[in-house]
Amino acid sequence: MRFSRNDFPPGFVFGAATSAYQIEGHGFGGAGPTHWDSFAATPGNVVRAENGARACDHYHRWAEDLDLVADANFDVYRFSTSWARVLPEGRGTPNTEGLDFYDRLVDGICARGLKPAATLYHWELPCAMADLGGWRNRDIAGWFADFTETLMRRIGDRVWSAAPINEPWCVAWLSHFDGHHAPGLRDIRATARAMHHVGLAHGRAIEAMRALGVTNLGAVCNFEYAQPADESAEAAEAAQLYDGIYNRWFLGAMFRGEYPEDVLAGLGAHMPDGWQEDMATICAPVDWLGLNYYTRRLIAPADGPWPGLRTLEGPLPKTQMGWEVYPQGLCHFLRFAHEGYTRGLPLHVTENGMANPDSPGIPDAARIAFIEDHLAELRRAIEEGVPVAGYYLWSLLDNYEWAFGYEKRFGLVHVDFDSLKRSPKASYEALRGALTR
Ligand code: FCB
Repeated sequence: MRFSRNDFPPGFVFGAATSAYQIEGHGFGGAGPTHWDSFAATPGNVVRAENGARACDHYHRWAEDLDLVADANFDVYRFSTSWARVLPEGRGTPNTEGLDFYDRLVDGICARGLKPAATLYHWELPCAMADLGGWRNRDIAGWFADFTETLMRRIGDRVWSAAPINEPWCVAWLSHFDGHHAPGLRDIRATARAMHHVGLAHGRAIEAMRALGVTNLGAVCNFEYAQPADESAEAAEAAQLYDGIYNRWFLGAMFRGEYPEDVLAGLGAHMPDGWQEDMATICAPVDWLGLNYYTRRLIAPADGPWPGLRTLEGPLPKTQMGWEVYPQGLCHFLRFAHEGYTRGLPLHVTENGMANPDSPGIPDAARIAFIEDHLAELRRAIEEGVPVAGYYLWSLLDNYEWAFGYEKRFGLVHVDFDSLKRSPKASYEALRGALTR
């Protein structure tokens, strides 16, 4: 690695990130069915119709996995908790096995000298909630706050940080407008409602955790650099709107209590009645912002109804996902969030990494270069005065990459999905060396 721990300010933390459905094995431990199980069971949604029933079997191998985090000299382990594991019906009677699992996990993280960074929802909505309309139903904010309380009464005394919802844009837009993720809808009214209720659920969960005395609460949003496909005014306008939907909607709501006008122009007619009254809850104060950053997208105008835009393939080198590698976007968004929204709050890069067709024994040199180039941009932001406080790799393990099944390998550690053997990659070893204390 072209850097070491000493190249970062004192107190700066490095972490590894995972999520529940992607690694645990949702078939184990009495977890309830989720909308990802039914989405994956529907032909055409997921590569080979794979699901998270076994995944990396982290449910049984968590101790070995936490050892891997600690041995790489990371400071933080960012994990998520499955709503359906804790409350198989989404509400009502908790699953004791599920609560016990997260209790053990948090103890295991602390016992290894790591900081537990919890995300409460990383996309596995209980089917019972989906049956009631899921994110389209305003009541989800209350159900989610109740889940938050049930879980945090158990682990809230030991978590180092907590964020309610991973990547609101994916939960709302990708899943209800693009239809690429569960529940696989393509409907603008459903989208507008989800875009609002996700924020409301975030705010209600923050309030619930504050009431319990849980500290160091944040939000985790994803960002994609919107590059106009050509020099035309139309392409610039399309890219600006894409940026609004993707990058400014949730930040605006959570940090300023308002939605961007350009996006409201399209979504406004489909919003739930009285949404304005919820804005004070959505912008409940938080202590930090987490940014997940992977790539940029070329945007061009398109015929048809609002938003009238399309994405094009760009010319830059791409990862196994087909995503362009564009490290400059990371510095851009750190600066953008700090100057326009968070104004001094600590920023954590809660996800960054790349998929690569790795096999054990073959060094993942491309991933090492990817990390180095993104860390150089992160350091540039720090030099400009942006208060960046942490950087977490996505991901610790190769895992269930949603609609792509097990094909895309994001891990620092290779997983053989037949034997479930874990084999650290060259990037893991390089980080371990760079992060030595
Ligand atoms: C993010 C998700 C994470 C993983 C990475 C590649 O959007 O939070 O679960 O899928 O992308």
